[in-house]
Amino acid sequence: MADYILQAEGLTKQFSGFTAVSDVSLSLERGTIHALIGPNGAGKTTCFNLLTKFLKPSAGEIRLNGRDITGLSPDAVARLGMVRSFQISAVFPQLTVLENVRLAVQRRRGGSFDFWRSKGVLRDLEPRALELVEAVGLEDVADVTAEALSYGRKRALELATTLALDPEIMLLDEPMAGMGHEDIGRITNLIRTAAQGRTVLLVEHNLGVVANLCDRITVLMRGEVLAEGDYATVSKDPRVIEAYIGSAGHA
Ligand SMILES: Nc1ncnc2c1ncn2[C@@H]1O[C@H](COP(=O)(O)OP(=O)(O)OP(=O)(O)O)[C@@H](O)[C@H]1O
Ligand SMILES: [Mg+2]
Repeated sequence: MADYILQAEGLTKQFSGFTAVSDVSLSLERGTIHALIGPNGAGKTTCFNLLTKFLKPSAGEIRLNGRDITGLSPDAVARLGMVRSFQISAVFPQLTVLENVRLAVQRRRGGSFDFWRSKGVLRDLEPRALELVEAVGLEDVADVTAEALSYGRKRALELATTLALDPEIMLLDEPMAGMGHEDIGRITNLIRTAAQGRTVLLVEHNLGVVANLCDRITVLMRGEVLAEGDYATVSKDPRVIEAYIGSAGHA
């Protein structure tokens, strides 16, 4: 039997009578990269917010490692090992890349954001911080302030600060949004590296972008699951092709 880390059943979200997410069931197998895709307005972000507990479902249940987390707060699920990128991973624009990552490592170890820590404590965090900076390919800009980074490299920094928390499962909302072709390739490789030893769910508009990255793809359309499978299966599905053509999106 498959080992599922995150399972949603019958997830439904209504906004004053309008059903944005309708009876969605989703199972994420441990250790896989899973994508949630769909055209504009399909309900991806709503679904993402339900799963990460930023929204309360109108109906349905969410289980993390078999435990019902439907009523828990985002912070509580983060403590259980499910982290949403760009949530806890605050990036401080005026701090350098290394300082940002070091703070995230410090937080993981139970410290607060205490800028006045002794030099000795900070030094202890340095090796892990450097390792993470290297893992996301930012070693050449380790001493550059976050605000001076290009868009793509800011996303890489956010990924590093998320990885510093060492999540068991990581959820990313459109990590490639707003990126040029070159940055997309780079972030794809980063996500692949970051996914080692953990589970990743990513929301993405474009089916093509996740082709070489995701083990499994769930396609949403008007709040419902339209199709699910690997890229080869889903990309050939006439309903999926129709959904993208119908919405004038690009698959
Ligand atoms: N807070 C809200 N109140 C009312 N309607 C909402 C709210 N949030 C989302 N919706 C509606 O729910 C539907 C799904 O929206 P959602 O943002 O989840 O789609 P999406 O798949 O993320 O789209 P996109 O590709 O544009 O990001 C849309 O019709 C949207 O207008
Ligand atoms: Mg969205």
